[in-house]
Amino acid sequence: TKHLLGIKDLSREDIELIFQTAEEFKDVINRPIKKVPSLRDITIANVFFENSTRTKLSFELAEKRLSADVINFSSSSSSVKKGETLLDTVNNILSMKVDMIVMRHSSPGAPHFLSKHIDANIVNAGDGTHEHPTQALLDTFSIREKLGNVEGKKVAIIGDILHSRVALSNIFALQKLGAEVMVCGPITLLPKYIDTLGIKVELDVRKALEWCDVANILRIQLERQHIKYFPSLREYSLYYGVNKKLLDSLNKEITIMHPGPINRGVELSSDVADSDHAIILDQVENGVAVRMAVLYLLASVSK
Ligand code: CP
Repeated sequence: TKHLLGIKDLSREDIELIFQTAEEFKDVINRPIKKVPSLRDITIANVFFENSTRTKLSFELAEKRLSADVINFSSSSSSVKKGETLLDTVNNILSMKVDMIVMRHSSPGAPHFLSKHIDANIVNAGDGTHEHPTQALLDTFSIREKLGNVEGKKVAIIGDILHSRVALSNIFALQKLGAEVMVCGPITLLPKYIDTLGIKVELDVRKALEWCDVANILRIQLERQHIKYFPSLREYSLYYGVNKKLLDSLNKEITIMHPGPINRGVELSSDVADSDHAIILDQVENGVAVRMAVLYLLASVSK
């Protein structure tokens, strides 16, 4: 395939090829000269209709490490504000001889829509509440790096599952790689279709932590909640917040992950986020190598 729209479309072999390639690129970016010439004939546009720190910067760095030419588009400072459509915006960018579009958009399915109307490669950098495939790839790559394997590991995804594209992409990736998956959160923050996914569902965070080897902690996505929701942030922190006292009371080691941004003191306390059990900054480091692998492999398919 010439696009990466979601983990749902990938096979286990596809994911393992991305991991192997990412390992090679991780070696490259740890050398004094961090660049390879692989994409020097390619121009990539990072087209972001939603805010981002990690994804946007790590795609840009991945592209530069591969020697691609890079342009960045942010909708908040663009002519989208004057009423230009998504398709017009992207077609105008492509007419400047751009080969690849990395896009984040608030509408689920926006990159899929685009893929039916344009010729360039598209990488989904997060589409609303739907998928965030490169996040799931870097998350599972980081689990593999930390624990040696993903197969057979028990992974609990804890938090606002309803509004989380990270949760859905992680569920697909973990299942394809043979992990056992659980989601945990207040019933009001679990999607109605959760029982159709073939995963465990747990409402009690202590029980989820007792069960898992890895806990991937998600924030409450206030920006996607259009009605007054339950629980409040204070209630969420009280009943679902992961902190050192709770973890110490379990008498076991759990690897702590978070895709960022962290709302410190709500879903995760600082004493856990900054502890040796957390691999949160390793996830960010791995994001560059994993995104290099995705861009490199897509460019090779298109040649
Ligand atoms: N994890 C993640 O997608 O972070 P950003 O929103 O900062 O890109």
